[in-house]
Amino acid sequence: MPIRYNPFNPQQPAKPHFFVGRDNELKIFQNFLGQTIHGSPMNMSITGDRGMGKTSILNKFEEIAKNEGALVIRISNYEVNINNIIELSEFLVTSIQRELISRNPISKTLSDFGSWLSSFKPTIELKGISVAIEKKQIAQDILRERLQEIWRNIKDKYSAIVILADEAESLEDIGALTFLREVFQRVQSDSNYMIVLAGKFNFPERMSEQFSPLNRFFPAQRLRRLEVKEVSVYLENRLKETGITISKSATHEIFRLSEGHPYVLVCVSFLVFDSLNEYEKEIDKQVVKRCIWKIRGRLSQDFFTPMFHPLSPQAKKIISLIASNIRGLKFTLNEATKITKMQNNQLSGYFGEFLKRGILTKPSRGVYWIFHTLFKEYLVYNKKNNI
Ligand SMILES: Nc1ncnc2c1ncn2[C@@H]1O[C@H](COP(=O)(O)OP(=O)(O)O)[C@@H](O)[C@H]1O
Ligand SMILES: [Mg+2]
Repeated sequence: MPIRYNPFNPQQPAKPHFFVGRDNELKIFQNFLGQTIHGSPMNMSITGDRGMGKTSILNKFEEIAKNEGALVIRISNYEVNINNIIELSEFLVTSIQRELISRNPISKTLSDFGSWLSSFKPTIELKGISVAIEKKQIAQDILRERLQEIWRNIKDKYSAIVILADEAESLEDIGALTFLREVFQRVQSDSNYMIVLAGKFNFPERMSEQFSPLNRFFPAQRLRRLEVKEVSVYLENRLKETGITISKSATHEIFRLSEGHPYVLVCVSFLVFDSLNEYEKEIDKQVVKRCIWKIRGRLSQDFFTPMFHPLSPQAKKIISLIASNIRGLKFTLNEATKITKMQNNQLSGYFGEFLKRGILTKPSRGVYWIFHTLFKEYLVYNKKNNI
């Protein structure tokens, strides 16, 4: 029997050709890119929990920006490289230079551009300066000059420079977002740079920060669940190349199970497809239903346990107790105090952690949701079985 190709892959971000939905975010990106190309740069940020599609939407942005003639720089994984703003500055300039070199092999361009690029030094030296504030100021000035120099030298070749920074919550932790704002605000007065941050940020969440400079400079779009129409388009598109069809009720069942959560959707679809035998040519509702235990098991292992396990014993107890005593996913702080017999102020620290880990979401003041029904069921099951 030939090995069947499974078109669903929960380990990889979506490729632009099978990306669905996010019309609003894409429209905003396109508008802001247009502004940037016309010399009036704008930035944005994408915020969302794990698996909501941040990396996927950056892939889409990259495709759009390249089609518009922009130079696109992707950066992420800073932990290894970056502990302070000086390292960040060098990392940024080096990343732009590396991208330029890979797009413009120097051997072929013995032009002014080629000789500029080969002589350009991305390093930011701060020898002999020991005062921290002064260091920061000088790093800012040098970075700004480097970025402006780059733009002057490439503006005939590219419409804009678009920097897509993934997993940027770790930049928030080292205070780098404010630094970037200070640098780019001035750079953007005469150079077509655009920055898009993606990550799980705190700054758009804090009430007092909603009108803060950071939020104005990187206006945040929160990624929401996919809708049934989008899930349906996604499934049909992906299945098209396999010769397998899917019934309407199976599509609805997959939507219901996944609740439109992108990662869960791809994981469920993968397992359902995987369960087909060589004679089955259609996914119907029964096929989806027979996979439910496999789905629970796989999600527990790959998604839920990594979220739950790092919690302290007391935090685990609290969230499991709440999950076992509420009807749906939604509860209020008042209900939580009754269930746990703890005070508001005792609970708030734990809730902060649950929110940070994406275990809870908070749609409005004093109201919380457990992020997914299957996760709630995981908590209840664990509690019942003393796991
Ligand atoms: N808009 C989308 N269309 C199709 N699949 C998506 C979309 N967004 C996310 N996915 C899928 O969901 C999973 C998680 O997406 P990813 O971009 O890695 O999330 P994040 O970076 O937020 O953790 C991936 O398997 C990806 O293919
Ligand atoms: Mg990601």
